[in-house]
Amino acid sequence: MQIDSSKIIITGAARGLGLAMARHLAATGAKLGLIDIEQAALHEALSTLPGSGHHAHVANVADEDQVDHAFDALADALSGIDAAVNNAGITRDGLLVKVKDGKVVDRLSMDQWQQVLDVNLTGVFLCGRAAASHMIKQGSGGVIINISSISKAGNFGQSNYSAAKAGVAAMAVTWARELARYGIRTASVSPGFTRTELVAGMPEKAIARITSQIPAGRLGEPDEIAATIRFILENDYISGRDFAVDGALRL
Ligand SMILES: NC(=O)c1ccc[n+]([C@@H]2O[C@H](COP(=O)([O-])OP(=O)(O)OC[C@H]3O[C@@H](n4cnc5c(N)ncnc54)[C@H](O)[C@@H]3O)[C@@H](O)[C@H]2O)c1
Repeated sequence: MQIDSSKIIITGAARGLGLAMARHLAATGAKLGLIDIEQAALHEALSTLPGSGHHAHVANVADEDQVDHAFDALADALSGIDAAVNNAGITRDGLLVKVKDGKVVDRLSMDQWQQVLDVNLTGVFLCGRAAASHMIKQGSGGVIINISSISKAGNFGQSNYSAAKAGVAAMAVTWARELARYGIRTASVSPGFTRTELVAGMPEKAIARITSQIPAGRLGEPDEIAATIRFILENDYISGRDFAVDGALRL
């Protein structure tokens, strides 16, 4: 796919990796459709993009009607959708069971479980389904990329997040098989620990401990994830694979 003048939707684009991807792709000539739940931050993000012809739509990716409406509105505004990056995600970490003096004192709550599954798994399903529907209607193929995580292998304190991230990588494989006949390629990207607000919100001690375990000796930079998205978009023989960008860290 040629990125110049292509129309690309990115969810969770108000900050962090989503905004880095939007800036990177806009600088390459793409027209962006940004989706986020945070209205003020989304419009601020839109105003910082290089180039012109970009649009934004406030939506909760976990809400079926809001997702379908956002994709319809952005496809109208951009005159089509060539690619979608399903990036919006949250964490609600906690141990499966917390034990003190041999007694279970806490459990990962249904609320923590459901919130993460709703946004990180159902949200990707809904956005992938909306993107594929528009691409098939247009008849000119497209690319769908799901943002997974190094945690898809299973990570301490992340039953909910790990399960969702394994799920979105698996959906990328499923969609590659189902959608190839319509000229639609799919992939997932699994970042390691990357310097965004999501990571900055972790205790400093935890960040230092993680960094000491990364063979590359540092956190990833958002633009390194954005460059991977661009590489996948531009290479027409990539489909159904996961791309780890993690400085050689293995959980
Ligand atoms: N930062 C990392 O180290 C890292 C590592 C691996 C994977 N990831 C994944 O990359 C993606 C982006 O992470 P980030 O670090 O930029 O996070 P972030 O918290 O900085 O940004 C996430 C964005 O998603 C938006 N969002 C949250 N819930 C939403 C919803 N229901 N509907 C619409 N938008 C919503 C937020 O408002 C925010 O703008 C996530 O899927 C995350 O799991 C991040």
